[in-house]
Amino acid sequence: MTDVKELLLSRIRDVADYPEPGVMFKDITPLLADPAAFTALTDALAEVVERTGATKVVGLEARGFILGAPVAIRAGVGFIPVRKAGKLPGATLSQAYDLEYGSAEIEVHAEDLNAGDRVLIVDDVLATGGTAEAAIQLIRRAGAEVAGIAVLMELGFLAGRARLEPALGGAPLEAL
Ligand code: PRP
Repeated sequence: MTDVKELLLSRIRDVADYPEPGVMFKDITPLLADPAAFTALTDALAEVVERTGATKVVGLEARGFILGAPVAIRAGVGFIPVRKAGKLPGATLSQAYDLEYGSAEIEVHAEDLNAGDRVLIVDDVLATGGTAEAAIQLIRRAGAEVAGIAVLMELGFLAGRARLEPALGGAPLEAL
């Protein structure tokens, strides 16, 4: 394991039975509170922007905002928030997706993404892949191209990668 990986892993706190019994929550707040770890994470994600030739970073509410914004600045590209429904004031594109129980909806300002944009999706955790899959659909409906997905952690047992690979069509999914 690289030093960066070890540093990042050491700053992720496992919280048992949160938000409900049987779930092991991955808490990134210790990582955010450590400037060396947060900087290392930002640098590693910014490298993915450069490697994929992305021209914009999309961050997924809420923790994808915390990670994606400094990455966009570091890489010198724009940051676009994808928000939960009802939070953006302008004209939006919306995408519904299924949760284990029920459904959810995410939105983006239509004017923020255009044909010719190459977009890297940034988030903290890839779990089932439902949120990222909906984000891919939003980005494509806006006419932009998906350059890839970069996350801090992938929960492999939830098989999000297998779900997303067909939708990604060869674009990379990088989990640090
Ligand atoms: C978490 C996480 C990802 C998403 C991953 O966000 O930050 O965005 O779930 O899950 P999935 O791969 O199964 O879709 P959450 O919806 O808890 O929102 P929050 O960051 O606002 O708490």
